Amino acid sequence: MCGIIGCFSEKDCYGRLLRALKKLEYRGYDSAGIALVHKNRRLHENYRLIVRKKKGYVSALEGAVISGDTGIGHTRWATHGVPCDRNAHPHVSGKFALVHNGIIENHAALRQELCEHGETFLSETDSEVIVKLIDRNYAGDFFAAVRAACARLEGSYAIAVISADHPGEIICARCKSPLIAAAGKGALYVCSDAPALAGEAEFFCPANDGEYIRIAEGKILFYDSAGNEIKKSFLRLPAQIAALEKGDKSFMEKEIAETPQALSDTLKSLHRTDFAPCARQLRGAKRFFAVACGTAYHAALAFRDRAEECLHIPVLCQTSSEFRYRSPLIGEGDVLVAISQSGETADTLEASRLAKERGAYLIAVTNVAHSSLAALADFPLLLRAGPEIAVAATKSYVCQLLAVFYLTAQAHFFKHTRMPVWFFELEKLSETVRAAEECFLQTSHLAKQLSQTFGMYYLGRGQDVVTAMEGALKVKEIACVYAEGYAAGELKHGTLALIEKGFPVIAIATDKKLAKKCENALAEVKARGGFCALFSQYEDVLSESCADFCCRLPSISEPLMPVVSVIPLQKFACEMCLLRGFDPDKPRNLAKSVTVE
Ligand code: AGP
Repeated sequence: MCGIIGCFSEKDCYGRLLRALKKLEYRGYDSAGIALVHKNRRLHENYRLIVRKKKGYVSALEGAVISGDTGIGHTRWATHGVPCDRNAHPHVSGKFALVHNGIIENHAALRQELCEHGETFLSETDSEVIVKLIDRNYAGDFFAAVRAACARLEGSYAIAVISADHPGEIICARCKSPLIAAAGKGALYVCSDAPALAGEAEFFCPANDGEYIRIAEGKILFYDSAGNEIKKSFLRLPAQIAALEKGDKSFMEKEIAETPQALSDTLKSLHRTDFAPCARQLRGAKRFFAVACGTAYHAALAFRDRAEECLHIPVLCQTSSEFRYRSPLIGEGDVLVAISQSGETADTLEASRLAKERGAYLIAVTNVAHSSLAALADFPLLLRAGPEIAVAATKSYVCQLLAVFYLTAQAHFFKHTRMPVWFFELEKLSETVRAAEECFLQTSHLAKQLSQTFGMYYLGRGQDVVTAMEGALKVKEIACVYAEGYAAGELKHGTLALIEKGFPVIAIATDKKLAKKCENALAEVKARGGFCALFSQYEDVLSESCADFCCRLPSISEPLMPVVSVIPLQKFACEMCLLRGFDPDKPRNLAKSVTVE
């Protein structure tokens, strides 16, 4: 989604904004812009706004530096209005410039009202109404004008506003979109995302919903929704964020390589987590609900598989966006497990809020300790995957699997006073995942063979269905190959119609009792001329199969295999992406953190 940044610095303000925008690139965007309050030496008007904004990459803003010590910047991920220079942020009205992340749901009504008052709009965005409202409400008090404008807004927003009448001042507001304030050597910042300030800021403090941040007179000030100043504590920016550097490879490749470390850090942290506060809920739950989006949804499905098998209670699993609008039968006594790497995904947050309103107990599995989801949860279960910058979730997915399996084991313990057998193999997970890297040479050959395909299927049975779905999602999002992940048993109920000579099908068979059934599906593909690839930890499953390509996975207790089997599929997607000439870190139309509905 959109990334926002604000900076006050007497030195190199434009350069700092530009560097932060470059670091925000990973979130996905289609245009970028910067505005500064510029001291005007020649005219009698002392200060004026200078705006530079462009469709395309942040690099389009490089070149002539705008001088000034107060500025805002934006990377736009289009929601209202096509990506173009005109729709790019910052938006200006009179002496105000604004950047916005979120969606203003009542923008059409506000626009009409403003037009009736004679305002004209330059863009098709929902955001422009905010700056118009600020301008109309301004009677000398900048902060009051922003608050008055925010009082009219419905939807989600994090905004940063500057004014030519108020050099040195940035006013920000937050409602359901992430926003932090930060301080570094010689600079004060506001930002949607801490990684944007890697190497620039040392301390940070997140704003809560309804709060305002004001940078003025060289200080950062926080205010509650009524405009009263409040005291907040700043935290040191985690070392992993402060040291974020990509190196010569893409973030996605770097993060796949970091997976074994992420797993062992997460496992250590889980061992240290005190589950006693949720013991009663885990022991007493008659059923669980699980919600998430995208890759995290696949972790929710894996939780369902493991928890139903271990705990013998139903787990009702749904994408967050559907959960909210299906009158879910959730209430007191139910436990909702919400999974989100970022902890800022709008649909997952709203689903969680709804469940809490109905009296359910919320367990949040997230990688970001200071995220909105962690703050909302009755019990936050934190991953230690380290910052994940690539849009495609890799190491965070694997750590999500570890966390939900661990949660299942804890629930099993609270119910039966013993851990499931596979729990004791968790210690081996990190090294087994490292051993899975030996598959990379083979997956690279496979990618070379399949790089020109127009589509492919991923098949599995039992716990491998989820891995098939995740493998397909990865190759879709970064390699732009049409792919479907399916239960192999469904093949002849329709999908088989598309199999023809050379059509690639990748199967995963890690569950011995279902392996023969998966092999039967592959035989049906082969009989129609399809190309079959098979991943399994069992030598006999591979040798007895009809597959054209076989890859032996390292072995660990079967219930933990989803953590291992997805690794070569992630790498395969990355190889496909590179061979097809795409950048793994900038997937088309996608954003890292989907903070709008
Ligand atoms: C994963 O590769 C995707 N980029 C996407 O599906 C992602 O998992 C989804 O948007 C959920 O994000 P979250 O985990 O931050 O909530």
